[in-house]
Amino acid sequence: MTGSNGNGHARGPILRREPGRTNGLAPNPPEKGRTVLITGGAGYIGTVLTGRLLERGYNVRLLDRLYWGEGPLEAYAGRIEVEVADVRDLPATALDGVDDVIHLAGLSNDPTAEYDPEANWQMNAVATETLGNACVERGIERIVFASSCSLYDGLPPGMHDETAPITPRGAYATSKRYGEQALLGLMDSGLCPVILRNGTVYGFSPRMRYDLVVNTFVKDALLEERLLLHGGGWMWRPLVDVRDVSDAMIAALEAPAKLVRGEIFNVLHSNYQIRELAMLVAGSVQLLGRSVRLEEVPAPRLTRDYECSNAKLSQTLRFTPCRSVVEAVSQLLEEIDLSDRSKLSDPRYYNIRWLELMHELEPRIQRFGAVL
Ligand SMILES: NC(=O)c1ccc[n+]([C@@H]2O[C@H](COP(=O)([O-])OP(=O)(O)OC[C@H]3O[C@@H](n4cnc5c(N)ncnc54)[C@H](O)[C@@H]3O)[C@@H](O)[C@H]2O)c1
Repeated sequence: MTGSNGNGHARGPILRREPGRTNGLAPNPPEKGRTVLITGGAGYIGTVLTGRLLERGYNVRLLDRLYWGEGPLEAYAGRIEVEVADVRDLPATALDGVDDVIHLAGLSNDPTAEYDPEANWQMNAVATETLGNACVERGIERIVFASSCSLYDGLPPGMHDETAPITPRGAYATSKRYGEQALLGLMDSGLCPVILRNGTVYGFSPRMRYDLVVNTFVKDALLEERLLLHGGGWMWRPLVDVRDVSDAMIAALEAPAKLVRGEIFNVLHSNYQIRELAMLVAGSVQLLGRSVRLEEVPAPRLTRDYECSNAKLSQTLRFTPCRSVVEAVSQLLEEIDLSDRSKLSDPRYYNIRWLELMHELEPRIQRFGAVL
């Protein structure tokens, strides 16, 4: 039987298999009703993580300056607290009644960090240290910090684990490393920091990002019917699904302190070559009866190329990300509403384009005191 699924795709083959495997997150939390503060909780990862925490019976408070708006939080209205604030200027009450913290706020990729390295430093490095100190003052022990596998970029080719002698390059990686070290330095003061170095994330979120490689390929396949392979797309990248990364944060939050205190964990499903990702996305889109071609183009000046291992996460926490790229792509293809194609290229879904736009408008809004 064929027909439309409401997203403009002909209904043909089975798009999504029912999930059978789990990532190992315990079915229930060790203790119900704790209050978790998520900084940056209105973002791509945060809006998925919020839902997962609510499902497990947590009270959730978000602290976010809502760069990308509050629309993605609609589904949680009345069920969460939202503190609209900047992490560089932590309100005195932000940690009132909070048991644990998951720290996601800040600039979340290389282009935005390079756009304003000083703002990036204040948000990603200094504010992380300040937040850690505030937790110590309040007797909050557990803080899970969203760091990045991009810290491995620049190492010789090969598989890297958490002990690799990293030499972070660029504004983003340098600030993330400072944040890691600042939190680890507070262990003697009683803090229980857990550092998660996340691979590049893929998959559907109430607040989409189309500036992440797999999501970008899905959008390009649908809008342009072609995928560009820069330098042939031979570069390696560790990748992980947004739901798995959220669950990894919960696993890090719920694990006994003796397993995770001061530990760094890489969080990834697999390492892929960009070329391979393009083939997976093109194949999934072609299954819908749409054509997609792959095109080789010259490499940009800077490319990221690194691989890492998730063995420590699997062995220590018995947690192994389980959602593959093809599963996530299938869900994306179901969720994306192609009846309004302009949505896919809305600058709001591309962090650097949105920040540039806001910057351009800033003086005019300040001058007139209002948009209209
Ligand atoms: N998405 C990925 O592939 C990935 C990979 C590795 C690490 N991370 C890290 O995970 C975290 C979340 O990433 P994401 O993809 O959800 O990014 P995102 O940009 O979608 O979300 C970041 C959120 O933080 C908020 N924010 C930014 N600066 C803030 C500030 N100064 N004060 C208060 N709120 C602020 C934004 O409004 C946004 O809601 C980031 O720290 C990022 O560096 C992401």
